[in-house]
Amino acid sequence: MDPLDGLSLPSVAVHAGRTDLTDLGVHAVPIDLSTTAPLPDVSEARDILDELIEGKPLPHGASTIYRRAWNPTVARFEEAVAALEGYVPGGSSLDVEGIAFASGMAATHVVILSRVAAGKPHVIAVRPLYGGTDAILESGLLGTRVTYAAPDEIASHVTDDTGLVVLETPSNPTLELRDIADIVRQAGDVPVMIDNTFASPVLQQPLRHGAAYSVHSATKYLGGHGDAMGGVVVTSPELARSLRPLRVVTGGVMDPFTAYLMLRGIGTLPIRMREQQRVAGEIARWLVDQPAVSRVFYPGLPGADPTGLIGRQMSGPGAMLAFEMAGGFEAAEKVCGALRLITHAVSLGGIDTLIEHPASLTHRVVTESAQPHEAVLRISAGLEDPGDLIADLAQALDRVG
Ligand SMILES: Cc1ncc(COP(=O)(O)O)c(C=O)c1O
Repeated sequence: MDPLDGLSLPSVAVHAGRTDLTDLGVHAVPIDLSTTAPLPDVSEARDILDELIEGKPLPHGASTIYRRAWNPTVARFEEAVAALEGYVPGGSSLDVEGIAFASGMAATHVVILSRVAAGKPHVIAVRPLYGGTDAILESGLLGTRVTYAAPDEIASHVTDDTGLVVLETPSNPTLELRDIADIVRQAGDVPVMIDNTFASPVLQQPLRHGAAYSVHSATKYLGGHGDAMGGVVVTSPELARSLRPLRVVTGGVMDPFTAYLMLRGIGTLPIRMREQQRVAGEIARWLVDQPAVSRVFYPGLPGADPTGLIGRQMSGPGAMLAFEMAGGFEAAEKVCGALRLITHAVSLGGIDTLIEHPASLTHRVVTESAQPHEAVLRISAGLEDPGDLIADLAQALDRVG
C-alpha cells in the first residue's frame, strides 16, 4: 500500500518523495551528484537503458547509467509533484507521472516538441500566455503552426493536424480564469496543456478536470524562495513515455541540487500558498478603493469569477494580482521606482513580494497588438505582513499623485 494513501494534501506535500528515508536511515533527502555510475553486468545495463529509451520511469535504487537520462534525487521531486497533481481528496489518486526539467520553458518546449514529433504540429492557444510561451508558439521555432483562439472557440479551430491546446489558468499577467473541463470537451481527442504555475497543485489539479498535461515553472511556487530554477510536467504514464526520451536528447534536465531545493520547497507549499493568498486578497481589496488605480485583476474580487470556477476547479484565488494605473505608463513606471519594501523584479511565487511591468518585461516578446496594457503592473504577493505591503503601496501611489 502507498504510505501516502488517505493522507490530506498538506501531509502529502511533506512526505511525498521521502517515504523511503526511514528505511535508508536518513532524515534529509540524499543528493546524488553522480553524472555516471558503476554498472551491473553489460546485459543488465543494456536492459535498463532500453527502459529509459522507451521512456519508462526507473524504479528506486536502479543504476543511474547517466545523469541526463535519470537521477534519483530528481526522481524524488518528480514523485512529489505527481503526488500533489494526482491528489484526489478522499479518493484514490490519479495514475500520473512527473518529469522534471531545467526550467519551465524547457518543460513547455518538450511538450510542444512531442506533439510535433507525433505528426501534429498545429497548436491552438488561448491568450494571454507567459511571454516566453507565446513567443515560442508565435515564432514557429519548433515547427508548430499556431492559432490564437478565444476560450469558447476552441472546437471550431480543431483540424486533423491539431496536436495541442495550450492555455494558462489563472493567466499571466491578468489572471483570467478558464474552465478546463469545458476546454477539454471542446478539444475532443486533442490533448490540452495547462500551465498551472500561478495556481500550483495546491489550488488546482488540471488532470482531474481532463487536461493531458499540467506544466509548471517550478522556479515559482514549487521552489518558493527565488533561488532555484526548474520546470515540471505531470501527465499520464503513456504520454510521459513520449516526453522522457525527448528530454534525454534535448538535454534540458533538472540538476539534483535544484531537485533537493524544490522538494524542500514543496513541503511548505500548502501553508505558503494559503498565507500568500490571504496577503494577495488584502492587497487587491485595498487597491480597488484607490483613486490612482483604474482596475484591479484578482480572481477573488466580487464579479471576477462569474461562472464559479473557484470552489469547483480551483480551491482559492491564488496569490497573484495585477492592477492598472489611471495615470497610464508614466504612473506605472513611477510606482515601481517608488516602492521600498516590495521589490521591482520579474518572476513570482517566492516568499517576498515582487512587482513588475509585464508589457516591458515578462511579455515584452509578445506581438505588440497582444501585449498587456502599458498601465498594468503585476504583483506576486509574498509572506510579509499585508499592512506593511499596503503602507508601501500607499506611499508609492501618493508620490505618483
Ligand atoms: C506562467 C509561466 N509559465 C512558464 C514560465 C517559464 O518558466 P521558467 O522561467 O522557469 O522557464 C513562466 C516564467 O515566468 C511563467 O510565468
